[in-house]
Amino acid sequence: MYVIGGTASTALGERISRQLGNAPFGIPFLKRFPDGEMYLRIGGRLEGEDVVVVQSTRSDEDLLELFLLEDAVRQAGARRLIVVIPYFGYARQDRSFFPGEPVSARALCRHVELDADAVVTVDLHSSETLKGFTKPAFEVNGTTALARLLQERPVDVLVSPDRGGVDRVRRMAEKLDKPWIGLEKHRLDSEHVELSLPESRSVRLEGKHVVILDDVITTGVTIVEAARLLRRERVGAIIAACTHGLFLRDAFERIKAVTNEIYTTDTLDSPAEKASVAPDIGQLLRQHLAPA
Ligand code: R5P
Repeated sequence: MYVIGGTASTALGERISRQLGNAPFGIPFLKRFPDGEMYLRIGGRLEGEDVVVVQSTRSDEDLLELFLLEDAVRQAGARRLIVVIPYFGYARQDRSFFPGEPVSARALCRHVELDADAVVTVDLHSSETLKGFTKPAFEVNGTTALARLLQERPVDVLVSPDRGGVDRVRRMAEKLDKPWIGLEKHRLDSEHVELSLPESRSVRLEGKHVVILDDVITTGVTIVEAARLLRRERVGAIIAACTHGLFLRDAFERIKAVTNEIYTTDTLDSPAEKASVAPDIGQLLRQHLAPA
């Protein structure tokens, strides 16, 4: 296999190549035309190769780079192209909420798979999005990487900041053999939420080391409000942990001010990147997508 790491996932791409027995690894050469259009070129001979392109799609530019990379790999004569999208952007719009809207996640699935033979991603907003692919598509569980890290830390209680995250937190709690609670979240708008403790709970919080686990941190408001609520319960220490650390604007600083530690995986470059999903993606590639 040959691995290419796009601009949004260079370090993770290299880590994945190491997981594949030090598979040859390359990065594209990128520049801009005078009118701002993107130009890229990949090196190396790819005739008959199985190629893995790794590129998170946090921005529209990342997405465009991915499409150009896919075309370049095909043009270079690759036998098979596996696209790894560690953070799959546009996944939140996974249905049409109002007339006239696209199902953006499905639209991206269609375009990504035009040149791909298989797709791998990590912790989608909803796993239902996988159904938008007609080619083999796999979702890696990002909490496995976080669990490896949390196993080595003092952790007493796992906390889900909302109902949507309860399954994730329950699975993590089982892995760590710790109790968990789920908070109630009422979203007022994209930057304001109200959180409350569940009405009945048997889990003690006072003095405990708690982990607030989420799939993604965007504006940070969910984690900040959850941490404030837990502080009022006089917890001992708070770790904020998530798979995808987007950290818009000053989100990282605001979370840092109310927690003791912040952990993310490396699906996105982030100042809190402490756990790698590379072993899990490598394992999936070896198990399900190894060269025939
Ligand atoms: C919600 O469904 C997600 O699991 C996250 O809780 C949410 O997207 C986090 O966003 P923010 O950091 O803006 O509160």
